[in-house]
Amino acid sequence: LAHSRVRMQAERINTQIDLDSPKVVNMLELEGKAVYCRCWKSATFPLCNGAHAKHNEATGDNVGPLIVTAKKD
Ligand code: FES
Repeated sequence: LAHSRVRMQAERINTQIDLDSPKVVNMLELEGKAVYCRCWKSATFPLCNGAHAKHNEATGDNVGPLIVTAKKD
């Protein structure tokens, strides 16, 4: 297929978090360990609250959190 200039309308990933904002950006200071949401379903976004499990069960998706730990000196 030739490259098309037609922009495809894709489905939104974010359907509930800060929808009036042009871009959702979060900055947090890390202390020890943080578990960040990557499914956009968490009520505590940007932190994971386990909502990905319900989403995965309902959709067959396999999303999960990003777990970040601070490097110990
Ligand atoms: Fe979104 Fe856990 S709630 S990754």
